[in-house]
Amino acid sequence: MNPNVKKHFDAVASQYDEQRRGLIPCFDDFYGMALSLAESGENSPRVLDLGAGTGLLAAMVRSKLPSAQISLIDMSASMLDVARDRFAGDSNAEFIVADYSEYDFSPQRYEIIVSSLSIHHLTHDSKRDLFKKLYRALAPGGVFVNADQVAGHTPASDAYYRRRWLAETAASGLPQSAIDASVERRSVDINAKLDDQLAWMTEAGFQDTDCMYKYLDFAVFFGAKPAAS
Ligand SMILES: C[S@@+](CC[C@H](N)C(=O)[O-])C[C@H]1O[C@@H](n2cnc3c(N)ncnc32)[C@H](O)[C@@H]1O
Repeated sequence: MNPNVKKHFDAVASQYDEQRRGLIPCFDDFYGMALSLAESGENSPRVLDLGAGTGLLAAMVRSKLPSAQISLIDMSASMLDVARDRFAGDSNAEFIVADYSEYDFSPQRYEIIVSSLSIHHLTHDSKRDLFKKLYRALAPGGVFVNADQVAGHTPASDAYYRRRWLAETAASGLPQSAIDASVERRSVDINAKLDDQLAWMTEAGFQDTDCMYKYLDFAVFFGAKPAAS
């Protein structure tokens, strides 16, 4: 676990939700694509949300799949406390305070695994290991959807992503203090290149691996586990 990541998210938990749209210029398309890919033929799919935070994406999944059993895991107890409030009275939601890179999900299997803006906090080796672990944790026919950040192909594209993000957040109406805190949080990001992430997912066994959406450094990845494996 990276203690700096946990510290940053513990600190922002109470203001996190209200700042999201300002900090993610493509919010609706980005989360909308992730949500549309979170599909299962099961009536009551088991869903795992990695780095669920305040439950933003998990709540969207709940609206789409009212009978799903949703597990939210996050290492920040403060972020998950906000999610507990959001899911108050929902007996089909569970909350796990843990580092998902170390957590043993077995023997549980999931039809849908989602994650948003979290896996980029892991080292590249840990991302590769995580993708293998998630493949094992998926039920046959299950899907993995990762809405996350990517590094540019070149330093020039990274610099462009950063300039655009700073310009768009400055125009969002958010207080400068919120933008500064987000810049500070982003200092611990370990973004990986898009092609590397696709290769690591394929290496882990995922099929139909693809990037289904991209706006600057915001990208939505998809991978499926074959029904017969
Ligand atoms: C930017 S927030 C995203 C929260 C939520 N998924 C969303 O889209 O709003 C990243 C979250 O990932 C969590 N996180 C990062 N690395 C983690 C790890 N290794 N294990 C568990 N949680 C982690 C942080 O604590 C934080 O709550």
